[in-house]
Amino acid sequence: MKGIVFTEFLELVEDKFGLEVVDKIIQQSNLPSQGVYTAIGTYDFSEMLGLLKHLSEHTQLSIDDLLLVYAEHFFSVLAGSYPGLIEKYNDPIELLSSIENHIHVEVRKIYPDAELPTFEVLEKTDTKLVMIYKSSRAMYSFGLGLMNKTFEHFDTTAKITFEKLKSDGTEVKFSIVKTNE
Ligand code: HEM
Repeated sequence: MKGIVFTEFLELVEDKFGLEVVDKIIQQSNLPSQGVYTAIGTYDFSEMLGLLKHLSEHTQLSIDDLLLVYAEHFFSVLAGSYPGLIEKYNDPIELLSSIENHIHVEVRKIYPDAELPTFEVLEKTDTKLVMIYKSSRAMYSFGLGLMNKTFEHFDTTAKITFEKLKSDGTEVKFSIVKTNE
């Protein structure tokens, strides 16, 4: 997992819960990196799981809720760091249906070792998108947060529902329907 995902995560934890909580979850997680990350470095995904698990214990919020909130923050980071990728689109459904064939393809050019999910589009109309998320990292709630923010970015709204195709969350079907037209 790329360092930018860790650095932004720890910054958000510091903002919301304070530096002591950052220190505490780093200590508890027993991290090979010792919690020292650079944005362009690459670290084991298990370090993120450790941090999330201990933050979840500390805050009594589920890991899925933490990932959802984190993704909503991460969208602004992505939009700020890669404006060109997002500005190409003038519609959220166009953007979301292009993650697999355009956006994450560009991400892989920037970070060849990025660990990205796959999205398989099953159905797409002007107002509806059905796609299957697949990833061994089971970060579908992170995907949901990014989807929410994508609609907000275009000043529009949607009803997004999902169904786990595998109970561990490694395969999840998303149904996204625009609601303001
Ligand atoms: C992960 C970039 C848009 C879904 C990532 C990572 C980067 C990235 C750098 C981390 C990879 C790693 O740690 O190795 C971008 C950029 C975007 C974008 C630059 C737009 C400009 C989106 C959108 C979604 C999405 C709109 C919505 C569903 C995900 C998910 C992950 C991820 C779910 C977590 C990894 C996993 O589930 O396996 N993306 N992304 N991305 N991205 Fe994107």
